[in-house]
Amino acid sequence: MDERNPMPRHVAIIMDGNGRWAEMRGLPRHEGHLRGVESVRTTVRSAVRHGVRCLTLYAFSTENWGRPADEVEGLMELFCTCVAAETPELLRQGVRIRMIGDRSRFSEKVRRHLEQAERATEACDRLTLVLALDYSARSELVHAARTLARRTAAGAITPEAIDERTVAGALWTADIPDPDLIVRTSGEQRLSNFLLWQAAYAELWFPEVLWPDFGEEEFDRALAEYARRDRRFGRLK
Ligand code: IPE
Ligand code: IPE
Ligand code: MG
Repeated sequence: MDERNPMPRHVAIIMDGNGRWAEMRGLPRHEGHLRGVESVRTTVRSAVRHGVRCLTLYAFSTENWGRPADEVEGLMELFCTCVAAETPELLRQGVRIRMIGDRSRFSEKVRRHLEQAERATEACDRLTLVLALDYSARSELVHAARTLARRTAAGAITPEAIDERTVAGALWTADIPDPDLIVRTSGEQRLSNFLLWQAAYAELWFPEVLWPDFGEEEFDRALAEYARRDRRFGRLK
């Protein structure tokens, strides 16, 4: 592997293409989501093996509520069964689960499952697995703007004290480093409302592979691709 860049500290993935994977095989879309869980398992293991410190997975966007009710219900059920079933293995690997997004719209059952997994793994520090669920970057920014407006109105801070650090600190990702690498599978080349603030200087990679086919080799390829990038942050070499 080219040594230009060290390992990314934070890899964020837009897991796209589950539906197409299933449709190509004449299967219901849910089968694609089920297979997608296998890719999540493999990817978490790869991230741990490579010493990546943070892995964010975009699992459900706020806009995804607009899908047919049976698909949304299937996904909710899958989130519950998965986090419950995977928690022991995550604990074994030292993986801490965190959630970003607006959890208020989830049912009590989904919320309970997610919170249990977060609590059970909170002492783990090998890899932080951030699940973006009911996540929308614009909602996150609106939420941050309200928080800062409230603090300002209460006299806790002055408008002049608001800088990039305060804004970043009011986001759901407050204590999570910005992603170094954002991967979106399935060949689509857009961010779909994902980490818009945090992606300011992320390297982007759009492999054609559909998420259920994303395995260990693809993860290695993503890291190799990242290693070749020349990150300048606006400066000269
Ligand atoms: C990504 O796969 C999973 C979610 C958005 C929940 P899709 O379901 O978007 O799959 P395609 O894009 O329709 O193939
Ligand atoms: C983005 O995928 C959201 C997730 C992967 C969870 P979508 O399939 O929902 O995005 P669009 O509609 O193609 O932009
Ligand atoms: Mg999609």
